[in-house]
Order: sequence, then C-alpha cells, then structure tokens
Amino acid sequence: MTLKKGKLFGIGVGPGDYELLTIKALNVLENVPVICSPRSSPEKESIALSIIRPILKKRENREIKSTSEKINNDFKNEESCNKLIYDEETNIKGNKENLKVLEPVFPMTEDIRMLEKHWDEASELISGHLNKGIDVAFITLGDPSIYSTFSYVQKRLEKNFKIEMIPGINSFTACASSIGKPLVEKDEILMIIPKINENIGNLLKEGNNFVLMKTSRNTEELENIINEQNVEKEITSVQNCTMKNEKIIDGFPKNKPYLTTTILKLKK
Ligand SMILES: C[S@@+](CC[C@H](N)C(=O)[O-])C[C@H]1O[C@@H](n2cnc3c(N)ncnc32)[C@H](O)[C@@H]1O
Repeated sequence: MTLKKGKLFGIGVGPGDYELLTIKALNVLENVPVICSPRSSPEKESIALSIIRPILKKRENREIKSTSEKINNDFKNEESCNKLIYDEETNIKGNKENLKVLEPVFPMTEDIRMLEKHWDEASELISGHLNKGIDVAFITLGDPSIYSTFSYVQKRLEKNFKIEMIPGINSFTACASSIGKPLVEKDEILMIIPKINENIGNLLKEGNNFVLMKTSRNTEELENIINEQNVEKEITSVQNCTMKNEKIIDGFPKNKPYLTTTILKLKK
C-alpha cells in the first residue's frame, strides 16, 4: 500500500492586523500539523509568524486544556493515577508534536546561488513531511501570489505534491484602505513596481496609478525622477500598514522600514 502524500498550503496571512486573516486561512492554521514560516535571518522573527501568534497561543491552550480534561477524567478512577502522569507526559510531548513550526532561513540577498541553495533546502524540509503524509502550511505576508517567498518552494514542489493557495489581503490594497482612497477608478491603469530603476520615467508615461513596493530599497536619485515629473501628482507612503506602528507619510519617507509601500497617482 502506498502512503498518501501530504498537501502543501500556501497561505497569505495579510499585511499585519490579525483580524485581516481570512476564515479559510484560520481554519487551516488552527488544525494543520506543520506550519512553515521562513525568516530572513536566524536572529529575526518571521513577520508572518508574528501575525499568526494568537493562533499558536490558542493551539497551545487547546492542548493544555485537553490534557487537564484528561487528568480530571483519570482522577475519577484512582487506579489510573500512575497512568495519569504517564499520559500527561505523553500528551505534553504530543502537544509539541501536534504542531511543528519550521523556520527555514531565506536571506535578504541578491546572490541568486545562495538564494537557490536556501530555497532547495527549505523545499526538501517541507517535502520530507509531505512524503510522510503530513500536511504543511507555508505562511506568507500579504498574498502568496505577490512577490512571495512561497513561489520559490511552490515551483520546486508542484510536480510531486498537491498544492492549495489561500489568498490573503495584500499590502497595497491594505495601504489604499489606510490612506482612505481608491487605488483605481473607471478605466485607469494600475502598475505594480517591485523596485524603481532607471526605466521608471518610461513606466510613468504609461499609467496613472503606481504601487511602488519595497520602498526601503529606493535611492533618492530615483525618487527624484518621480518628484520632478511635470504633472499633478499625489505620493503617499504607508509604513507597517495595519500594524500598531502604522504611519502614513506624504511623499517618500526619509526613514524606510522594510514594510514601506508608496502609492503614486498621476493626474493626467
Ligand atoms: C516581499 S514583498 C511581499 C508582498 C506581499 N506578498 C503582499 O502581498 O503584499 C514585501 C514588500 O511588501 C510591502 N509590504 C508588505 N506588508 C506591508 C505592510 N504591512 N505595510 C507596508 N508595506 C508592506 C512592502 O513594500 C515590502 O517591502
């Protein structure tokens, strides 16, 4: 008999506010045996994992509660007292085994060989569980289809395993909500730009609305190409959108945490 393989979920956990998780994501994350959450370095906590902390806490409490219910039942029968300690121990061990959190490192580097090595290792770690019939939920900030670390393991595993993507609220629609303005109206065009480069002048000619992601990597020089466009414009940046330390800034900010996105509107 061949063992049924586990399923891989690629889950978007939204931009930061726990309440922006979807019910579908919640249902999987409350029950899946393995959660995989890559971090950028061994010292840093993964942002996606910090978003779902309340679920991890809830699962921990659920396991503890089921242990104490078991203890109460066993106490009704005095003969089972010895067994009780044994059960309690196995249950606590079981608790750890019931939810396993994998945190492979995906370093923030542009060295593609180094990145591929880390993506391969993470994919192997995940496939080790899937091959044993264990489901794995890979969590990712925002939505898994937008510049997400999930896509690298997805490409490596999709031939051999069943994969289900669960969309999340992405950063830029959340930013538009925080700003309180529509992203696009009528027949306007929206362009999503992961990194401003020298081609930005040409792109600006083509559209009306631009999402500039990874603003923290911008140079002032490239930002000036935008600032100097001879057209009425609105530039708004959002930092740590939907989180407790969210900031909305007119223009490009001087200090740029990693979670900074800029929305640019050109009135043509
Ligand atoms: C690797 S991309 C991940 C995008 C993500 N998958 C999504 O759907 O939005 C990281 C970039 O997304 C943007 N971002 C993600 N979360 C954000 C937040 N809470 N506030 C502002 N920008 C955010 C920033 O531009 C950041 O540099």
